[in-house]
Amino acid sequence: MTSCRICGGRLHEFGDFGTQPLSSGFLEPDYIGDEYFFRLALGVCASCSMVQLMEEVPRHLMFNGHYPYLSSGSSVMRKHFERTARRFLETELTSPDHFAVELGCNDGIMLKTLAEAGVRHLGVEPSKSVADIARRLGIRVATEFFQESTANEIRETEGPAQLIYAANTVCHIPYLDSIFRGVDALLATDGVFVFEDPYLADIIEKTAYDQVYDEHFYFFSVTSVAAMAKRFGFELVDAERLPVHGGEVRYTIAREGRRTPAPSVAELLAREETAQLTHLDTLKTFFRNVEQSRDDLVTLLKKLRAEGRSVVGYGATAKSATVANYCGVGPDLVSFVSDTTPNKQGRLTPGSHIPVRPREAFEDPYPDYALLFAWNHAEEIIAKETRFREAGGRWILYIPHVHVV
Ligand code: SAH
Ligand code: TYD
Ligand code: ZN
Repeated sequence: MTSCRICGGRLHEFGDFGTQPLSSGFLEPDYIGDEYFFRLALGVCASCSMVQLMEEVPRHLMFNGHYPYLSSGSSVMRKHFERTARRFLETELTSPDHFAVELGCNDGIMLKTLAEAGVRHLGVEPSKSVADIARRLGIRVATEFFQESTANEIRETEGPAQLIYAANTVCHIPYLDSIFRGVDALLATDGVFVFEDPYLADIIEKTAYDQVYDEHFYFFSVTSVAAMAKRFGFELVDAERLPVHGGEVRYTIAREGRRTPAPSVAELLAREETAQLTHLDTLKTFFRNVEQSRDDLVTLLKKLRAEGRSVVGYGATAKSATVANYCGVGPDLVSFVSDTTPNKQGRLTPGSHIPVRPREAFEDPYPDYALLFAWNHAEEIIAKETRFREAGGRWILYIPHVHVV
């Protein structure tokens, strides 16, 4: 693609990660055949400043009955979404007939609290594997992709929604025009569309290049989201920085003129302007840092291999697909990856073909080094794996730069 997926403006490419597999395409060990590969590259729109992928992966290849990612695998995230739901109960969902819709509800990590509180709700979740888990918790879920047609159907059968919420989902959806038309059809006059996604400023500051993979199509900034909202007749009325997943922003969008914008919107817009966040030079500098980070990681892993040290990966994240395939890290450098997700265990990581093993394998015996692919959960993981450090083990982190702790 050479033009912006949102406004049709010219796209300037600034970073190429080469050919990459589906980030959640874990393979059976006896798998023979071709994996799906595509070119993973980043561009920025000269007109609306939206940072986006240059190539789109068909959605049914990523989000289907085999989608393995479970949101509830982290205790920090469980708390985060419970707190989020409780806040909505106090602010937006105050009447018994209010209706809440969540896009990409996954295993029900957020809706669980709303359902328990008796709130009328609906999850829209195309990946049947995870939607079924939410349903077993008593949550109402439609196994569908949210888009304009889905929104119209929901509006017809359920009426308007006071809250439309999405976490780590809107940035996954290239067809945002259809999403916004859908929100327009479904949202109550005074309702809000709230979504949170990784923040471009944090990605750049931390050289967190592994946030770039097939599922993450957009890399939002307050500037680009404010422009996008306006384009579709909405207004950005709040922008709140969140510490989760390495740094995110929660955007609150209302119909134009319906709510007074919080001061944080203007503050963050000004800060992004000063930092020239979406200027091509800033983005090119980011990519030079990415190349340096890759070289540093490969140098360290090769040195450890030459010294005969054992190195395993921790967390078979979607993000790690970009690291492993861009840096050329295979089972020769990282012997296996430990992960708690049942549908990843016993399989091979996409493209790089590193075996994924259950958590028990990590301590049987502890390796000399653990490469923390799930760095966004570092605090939680390092706190519960104290025995690894006591046994002499060391963590390798590549965020914000390659280092050992
Ligand atoms: N909200 C959860 C899950 C994020 S993963 C969390 O924050 O942890 C992204 C989810 O979005 C996946 O479960 C995927 O199946 C879903 N998804 C992808 N495209 C979608 C669409 N068009 N409408 C609704 N959900 C979608
Ligand atoms: P996450 O970083 O949340 O997302 P993504 O896959 O989108 O990059 O994924 C965390 C992965 O790490 C997930 O596969 C579960 C795994 N994990 C563990 O193995 N142990 C843990 O303690 C935690 C928190 C996660
Ligand atoms: Zn654009």
